Amino acid sequence: MKLQKANALKGELTVPGDKSISHRAVMFGALAKGTTEITHFLQGADCLSTISCFRSMGIDIDNDGRSDRVLVHGKGLHGLTQPKDTLDVGNSGTTMRLMSGILCGQPFPVTMTGDDSIKKRPMGRVITPLTQMGADISSLAGTGCAPLLINPVKEALRGINYPSPVASAQIKSAVLLAGLYADSKTSVTEPYVSRNHTELMLGMLGADIKTVGTTAIVEPNPSLHGEKIVVPGDISSAAYFIAAGLLIPGSEILIKNVGINPTRDGILRVCRLMGADVQVLNPRNTDSEAVSDLLVRHSELKGTEIGGALIPTLIDELPVIAVMACFAKGKTIIKDAAELKVKESNRIDVMAHNLTMMGVPVTATEDGMIIEGGYPLKGAVIDSKLDHRIAMSFAIAALAAEGETEILGAECVNISYPGFYNDLHGLIQ
Ligand code: S3P
Repeated sequence: MKLQKANALKGELTVPGDKSISHRAVMFGALAKGTTEITHFLQGADCLSTISCFRSMGIDIDNDGRSDRVLVHGKGLHGLTQPKDTLDVGNSGTTMRLMSGILCGQPFPVTMTGDDSIKKRPMGRVITPLTQMGADISSLAGTGCAPLLINPVKEALRGINYPSPVASAQIKSAVLLAGLYADSKTSVTEPYVSRNHTELMLGMLGADIKTVGTTAIVEPNPSLHGEKIVVPGDISSAAYFIAAGLLIPGSEILIKNVGINPTRDGILRVCRLMGADVQVLNPRNTDSEAVSDLLVRHSELKGTEIGGALIPTLIDELPVIAVMACFAKGKTIIKDAAELKVKESNRIDVMAHNLTMMGVPVTATEDGMIIEGGYPLKGAVIDSKLDHRIAMSFAIAALAAEGETEILGAECVNISYPGFYNDLHGLIQ
């Protein structure tokens, strides 16, 4: 994909449904009794992997793939059946980690694998707490990575209080989901609060689940019931249009129906710190999730420091925030974000390398990066490493850079945003 410097972006758009919420709606809908009707479901490759895994375990799911309405005909907590083959999660870490928690409580053995990227990502972080609960889960190659083999336990899993070493909603959710099958209550305490969609949605479907500070606590064996779930637009997808609107002179973009759950809205807080003109309009609630429209106007940005409790609330937006930092006056420091190294690619190395190729002085650090803003970006050949968030971040950088940029592996945006390039081109004047 080749992209050139763009004129102003103007108009309005609705971004696809939230990836984290779409995954959970399918998974938890499958564990509930009755039908769960999902609207504004994300038809991205990751969420389709979740659908295909649950279909393999006997759950009927109506999805024509064109509309964004999906019906999950759940069979209750004990309604899954043994799949014929290895479950394939594709590129999706959320599918593999959350499903690990669910599968540990099933009365059948199952193996799970995925693509080359997922086979390099750390699964020890879920294997450790699930093993403490008495689960029989192992990495087949002994590397702590997929493929994973999960065997049934003889008796129930044990409820535990797990102090998670990292703020990760995937670890937290895996343990809480296993907790549904445990003999007593289960809790997870995080260093900082990570996204809480699991807690909100399980509560809505009838689980006894609560949060005290940075601890989430779930009671076992609930009777979950199907619900209507309206998925908000994904703030992680909106982030690319926020950045485009801020960076390209003359731009004004209205992004409608964006989820602004406080455990996910860190990019809005960073926009404020950088002096960006982003207005939060018409805030409202769908189900238990907060939603609003975002009006973004081209702005002069200033560098800032991003770390601590803010990091889990914007972890997936850091690549595009790094692009924003290139256009800011002064230095931006991103720290406490070592988790970036174990995403779909090593996002510290890949961002630092690619931004350097475009002429930006960037220093990669152990837990983030330091970016000197204010240097003009020049077009380059960018290897996305098949990481959707890298491809989209550099598409935005390309529109604001001199000359032409070529993005290798650009089609990987299908993981979370199949219509991304169309939506982007639709706004360019
Ligand atoms: C996700 C949690 C985050 C995030 C990922 C989706 C989720 O991962 O990066 O894209 O849906 O729970 P971690 O839990 O590993 O931080």
